[in-house]
Amino acid sequence: MRGPNEVTASAPAKINLHLGVGPVRADGYHQLATVYQAVDVVDRVTVRSAGTYDVTVSGDDRLPLDDIPLDGGNIAVRAARLLGKRHGVQRAVAIHIHKQIPVAGGMAGGSADAAATLVACDALWQLGCSREDLLDVAAELGSDVPFSLVGGTAIGTGRGETVVPAMVRGDYWWVVVESAAGLSTPAVYREFDILHAAGEVPVPELPEPLMEALRNHDVERLGVTLRNDLEDAAIRLRPELGDVLAAGVSATALGALLSGSGPTCVFLCSSTQHASEVSSALLHSGFGPVSLARGPVAGAWVERTG
Ligand code: C5P
Repeated sequence: MRGPNEVTASAPAKINLHLGVGPVRADGYHQLATVYQAVDVVDRVTVRSAGTYDVTVSGDDRLPLDDIPLDGGNIAVRAARLLGKRHGVQRAVAIHIHKQIPVAGGMAGGSADAAATLVACDALWQLGCSREDLLDVAAELGSDVPFSLVGGTAIGTGRGETVVPAMVRGDYWWVVVESAAGLSTPAVYREFDILHAAGEVPVPELPEPLMEALRNHDVERLGVTLRNDLEDAAIRLRPELGDVLAAGVSATALGALLSGSGPTCVFLCSSTQHASEVSSALLHSGFGPVSLARGPVAGAWVERTG
């Protein structure tokens, strides 16, 4: 049977509501205990059969699209190649990425592109991959890619790649403050290591009060239980992030958090109305670009086949 010519898939950005960072493992990664939430900021990926791999990118003017690699180093190309190799697919694909997720912002934009590419190629090549198969390929591509497939709100362990859905009630509103320049994830982890060089880093644990706040949709409690162990390291590399986080709290946000390894900062709010007020206050104080996001949303999904 002849397959589709073109498939478009989307995948969401993520916030780590809790990012517990533990000791460095033998493979160089840090042991994590994290709680992810997917939010409604999405990248859209279109794949089309082609003679050679090719990447093009479009998106909002505010995003530094020039920083995105257009060659085999792009994680979307790595995703398509790896899936193709596992299933004996000989053809290549041309990949177009329409970006909405901040670039190198700590919101798993690259992982979203990889996850969307996996589900799009699965549909284009009519592989009928099981969820386990896709999750396995995803874990090989990067620590956050499995969560980009799963979405919702989920617990991540291992190096972040072992993902189990969490019990959560209701919607959560976030104000997102981007930075003009991205931060390198390895550089932030390196700074974390320098900060903790003198003492032993404890094994990270899952935060029961935070899990309970999610189960009960207790937004105020959630606000005070948010935690990111990479925050101090990121602030050392970018001191102004401390000012952004403090400004969000002054602007009445229920909680302030660096997203992943940063530099994007997110602020928990009680409603859309509250999020609009916090975002106006942040803009008024000179911080931005500012946008609103809602979570949880689904993981990568196919939008259109043609
Ligand atoms: O898995 P991923 O390729 O996204 O990781 C990017 C980098 O982030 C790694 O090379 C490593 O420096 C750091 N990292 C880490 N521990 C983790 C996840 C990422 O040290 N659990």
